[in-house]
Formats: sequence, structure tokens, C-alpha cells
Amino acid sequence: MNSAPVGIFDSGIGGLTVARAIYDRLPQESTIYFGDTARVPYGPKSPETVTRYSREILHWLLSQGVKAVVIACNTSTAHALDALQAESPVPVLGVIEPGARAAGKVTSGGPVGVIGTAGTIASNAYARAINRRRPDVRVEQRACPLFVPLVEEGWFEHPAAELIAAEYLAPLRAANVDALVLGCTHYRLLKPLLQRVMGPVVDLIDSAEETAIALEKTLRRQGLESPLGGASEHRFVVSDDEPRFRQVGSRFIGERLGKAEVVALG
Ligand code: DGL
Repeated sequence: MNSAPVGIFDSGIGGLTVARAIYDRLPQESTIYFGDTARVPYGPKSPETVTRYSREILHWLLSQGVKAVVIACNTSTAHALDALQAESPVPVLGVIEPGARAAGKVTSGGPVGVIGTAGTIASNAYARAINRRRPDVRVEQRACPLFVPLVEEGWFEHPAAELIAAEYLAPLRAANVDALVLGCTHYRLLKPLLQRVMGPVVDLIDSAEETAIALEKTLRRQGLESPLGGASEHRFVVSDDEPRFRQVGSRFIGERLGKAEVVALG
């Protein structure tokens, strides 16, 4: 048993969708959420830059005494997971393996679609993870860089969002994918719209819940779970613009978002 907090980090606000899944599944666990709002977005940045930022956040979280770290950001998982796992004394989990596991379970033979930021799609990390489990399945990928600003703007059901989604997803519809992995923190909030564009028979896969399950298994396996029934605390830390984090973040997790501290890194 270990009641130290779990560190969760993202390039900004979107990782709160993963934090929410962790609160729901593991209510006894305390967390520290770090959103790198000063340097968001990670999607268009180089693997080297994203890895450098991610390492800085890992070391800050370690200095706060976390017992495990969840990389809630898909782009950071794609570029930096291996480096962070190699240098961390505590377990580090990403969101790509859990998402790929979910895709492998629901597809009836593919093709499977994957959407994400430019960096995540260029890394090919989802396709590799899916094909490790299901080498028989073809993976069709598409970068959707405009989805992040649309979500940040709160345009979940805006006609402009629908138009852009129809354009981005046309090749995936033409390929007849039977499942679509939402490979970016923000896309969960566009789920109803994306389901409409893709049609009702396509399974939309969101790695947040699977990541919470993976965290639960890791904590149990390593004897790191918090005692049941204990009070949990959630700390929020950002690298810039706390008011906007609170304003936009409340769309992601509602009233659970308390005031955030500001810590500058780098
Ligand atoms: N958190 C990022 C991801 O999941 C999306 C936002 C960004 O580009 O930084 O890939």
C-alpha cells in the first residue's frame, strides 16, 4: 500500500479527460495533474522537443513524490514514452498501448482507423502497437490538426466542426474502417459529432478508460495501491495561464477542477 499521488501530465488541458477516467475508476488515489499550458500544442513539434519537455515534467513530478506517472498526451506518449520509462524510478504508462489494446478487442478484422495530431500520426506508434497485437489488421491513419483548436473553442457541435470532420474522415469512411481510435486527448469531446460523421456501426475507441484500467493493474501488481476508503486529493498545476486552464478545463471535468498552481519549467 502506498498513498503517494499518481502524476498525470499532458501538453495542456486535454489530458483532463484521462484524469477524469482515473478519478472514476480509482477514487481512492490522489493525483497531481501537470498541464504544460505554456508550451502547448505538442502536436506540431519535433520528437526531440516533445521528449525534452516531457522529461522536464517527469522530473518535476518525481520531485513531488509521485509513485507512478501517466502520460495522458498521445503526442508525448508517441515520442517520449521509451525515454521516460528508461530513466524513471517509478512506473510510467502512456495512452497508446491501452488504446491499441481496445482497438484489437473491438475490431472484427479491420481496417482500423486512427486519428491524432500530426506528430502522433507521423510517429506511426498506434499502427505499430495495433499490429503487434493484430498483425492481420490494416491500419488507416489521418492527422486532424484542426480538431484541437475546435475543442478548445468549445465548438463540439458547431457546423464548422462538422464540415472539417467530414473532410478529415472521408478517406477513413471510404476505407470502410470498422473501428476508429481517437488518438488525441481532445477528441473524446467530439465523440457524438464524429460518430455521426462515421456512421453508427463504426466503434469509436477512446483510450482514457483503458488507460485507467492499465494504471489500476500496474498499481496492484507493484503493491502501490492507496488504501481503500482513504481521502484522495487532486492537485492541478500548469506552466502558464491559470484562468484559461480553469475556464476551458471545466468543460473537461466540471466542478472537480479546483484552482491550479503555476510552475514554470525549462
Ligand atoms: N495532448 C495532445 C495529444 O493528445 C493534443 C494537444 C497538443 O497538440 O498538444 O496528442
